[in-house]
Formats: sequence, C-alpha cells, structure tokens
Amino acid sequence: MEIEAARVCDAQAICDLVNHYAERGLMLHRSLESVYGCLREFFVAKEGDAILGCVALDVFWADLAEIRSLAVAETGKGKGVGRLLVEATIRDAGRLGVTKVFAMTYEQEFFQRLGFAEVLLKSLPEKVWRECLDWYDCGHRHETAMLIELADGQGE
Ligand SMILES: CC(C)(COP(=O)(O)OP(=O)(O)OC[C@H]1O[C@@H](n2cnc3c(N)ncnc32)[C@H](O)[C@@H]1OP(=O)(O)O)[C@@H](O)C(=O)NCCC(=O)NCCS
Repeated sequence: MEIEAARVCDAQAICDLVNHYAERGLMLHRSLESVYGCLREFFVAKEGDAILGCVALDVFWADLAEIRSLAVAETGKGKGVGRLLVEATIRDAGRLGVTKVFAMTYEQEFFQRLGFAEVLLKSLPEKVWRECLDWYDCGHRHETAMLIELADGQGE
C-alpha cells in the first residue's frame, strides 16, 4: 500500500468514499467539483488501483492548516491506513512551513494516538466555528477540535 498525491483519476473514488461516511453523518459531503477543485490538497492510500483511503490538507493561515475529508474504506479500517494518511499531511504541513495542524472530528481517540490534543473551538479562527455552527444547525452534534503542534523539522 502506498500513500500518494491524488491524481485526477482518483477524484471519483475520493468523492464516493467521503460521501459514504457523509451519508452516515460522520463527515461533510464533497461534490465531485469540489474534489477536483481541491485535488492538489489530497493524498490517497492506494493498493494497486484500489483507493483504501483519502485525506486533504487545507492551509488556513501562515501557522495553521486543517485536516479534512479523512476517510478509510470500511474494508481497510484498523490496519494503519488512517495513521499513514495523517502522517503524510503532517509531513506536508511541515514542508510548507505550517506549524499547527488541526482536525474537527468525532474520532478523538484516533487523533490522540497520533499526538493530537483537544483544544477549545474558540482558540481556532472564526471561520471554523461558523462551519461548526452550520453543521450543528443541520442537527449534528458538535465535533471536537484536535490540534498538533509540529516540532522543527517534522516535515523533512
Ligand atoms: C477514523 C479513521 C480515519 C481511522 O482510520 P484507521 O485506518 O481505521 O485507523 P488506524 O488503523 O490507522 O489507527 C491508528 C491508531 O488509532 C486507533 N484507532 C483507530 N480508530 C479508532 C477509534 N475509532 N477509536 C479509538 N482508537 C482508534 C488504532 O487502534 C491505532 O492505534 P495504535 O496505533 O496505537 O495501534 C477511520 O475509522 C474512518 O475513516 N472513519 C470514518 C470517517 C471518519 O470518521 N473520519 C474522520 C473525520 S475527521
């Protein structure tokens, strides 16, 4: 299994994977158009031609980026794929010079295992809370904000 930068041929599989969990209320929907638009932010976990998982890194500001659309196929869960995907985004954030990475999630324990810690939503930019409030207005419970501060050289 390899973690790679996503290519256009991966877009439909990314969209299907994310929307599989979005339909279960676990993450936000993505249109195919938005996947193509953000394709350069995505990494995929691939075994042959099959996509086992995906993740995107969205740079927010000079010191902050968000992990989005993290999803591992039901058949690939529990085998370290999620960890490898998150580690790829952390390396990429380090390479870009970003010092803090956060995720909004219901999977606190998974992120804790990867070195993230819970932070107050209000410590993050307003744009993040707005999205959360929209999400809450749609009848979903609040996700938890999990953040990791990158050590010097973590992207190398
Ligand atoms: C959350 C998710 C990405 C985890 O991916 P995964 O490939 O199954 O996780 P990994 O096998 O890499 O697990 C890494 C570590 O986290 C732990 N872990 C994984 N899922 C966990 C969970 N739900 N609760 C507690 N610990 C968990 C594993 O035991 C492992 O611990 P270890 O390294 O100490 O042995 C995957 O379950 C998923 O796609 N869920 C549905 C979509 C979703 O909720 N995405 C997150 C949006 S932010």
